[in-house]
Amino acid sequence: MKALILSGGKGTRLRPLTYTGAKQLVPVANKPILWYGIEGIVAAGITDIGIIISPETGEEVKSWTGKGDRFGAKITYILQDTPAGLAHAVKIAQPFLGNSPFIMYLGDNLIQNPLSPFLEQFTQKQLDGLILLRPVENPTSFGVAVVGDNGRVLQLVEKPQNPPSNLALVGVYFFDNTIHEAIANIQPSARGELEITDAIQQLINTDKQVDACTLDGWWLDTGKKDDLLSANQIILDERSTYNVEGDVDPQSQIIGRVKIGRGTKLINCTVRGPVIIGENCHLENSFIGPYTSIADAVNLIDAEIEHSVILSEAKIVNINHRIVDTLIGRRAQLTTAPQRPKALRFMLGDDSQVELT
Ligand code: TTP
Repeated sequence: MKALILSGGKGTRLRPLTYTGAKQLVPVANKPILWYGIEGIVAAGITDIGIIISPETGEEVKSWTGKGDRFGAKITYILQDTPAGLAHAVKIAQPFLGNSPFIMYLGDNLIQNPLSPFLEQFTQKQLDGLILLRPVENPTSFGVAVVGDNGRVLQLVEKPQNPPSNLALVGVYFFDNTIHEAIANIQPSARGELEITDAIQQLINTDKQVDACTLDGWWLDTGKKDDLLSANQIILDERSTYNVEGDVDPQSQIIGRVKIGRGTKLINCTVRGPVIIGENCHLENSFIGPYTSIADAVNLIDAEIEHSVILSEAKIVNINHRIVDTLIGRRAQLTTAPQRPKALRFMLGDDSQVELT
């Protein structure tokens, strides 16, 4: 069994953050989203992992993630010249995949359920494909499945106007080698991509056995800001622990599950967990509220922030209105003059600067 993680694509929905960086490397609780997927795959016992990368962000993905040693895996990088679709990614990965069955995992998806039970079902029933589904409120925005009583997938419809069910396709799939022939027999869709839903439909049409499992845990597609903030909230809620390695002065107050990295200084701050703060940050006269992740080397002075994600080397100074539901990119700067506006809500890309005067 192998795994194929898709970490190419355009990432238009997380712009401007993804003009300069890979969306799969945006951190959730200070760890790149992609790494949660790798860890989940390794936990299911699969260590031979291929990662699809794009020409624009591939080098960054490679240099952060490495050859796999830190995960106990062997990682092979596969360059996809253009983001021509999920099935196109499988097509160009064929030399890596060979005839092996594999898990296909979208690098910007996070799921709560462990993968092993699904893998077991896929292997034991000798399925050609196994897809994961999750009930959603707005099925028109997703790939939607119609499933028979026996768990067999009967039909897939991409973003249907009249959804035949509320079961959306989650970005984790299991395939045997019959998927390659199915992909060879489909044409690009109206948006010019080779769609994995068309390839799965092709499997169904040629009497291959494709089953579905419904997730009972959460599923997050972190491609958008609000989903990323929800993912950050959920992961902090589930996994935060108290661990203060930085330097906290006596005027500061740390409440609840708060992690503070080495070399970080807190002067006269209140931190109310769950919160994670990276290494070498400087935090002064500030309030850091629940569900906030602050990456390394961030400066936060005279500011209040909660339910937000701040990337490395960002600088936030003199903002006395509370910053909420915010995503701030690397090296972004946010500073104000003494008279302040009433409300602030931001999505700021890497290298951006905001001065409210
Ligand atoms: P999507 O979110 O469907 O596509 P995208 O990355 O182009 O994003 P956006 O809609 O914001 O423009 O992709 C799901 C995952 O698959 C994501 O991690 C990127 C990856 N991907 C590839 O590796 N190759 C591809 O050809 C496509 C379309 C996506």
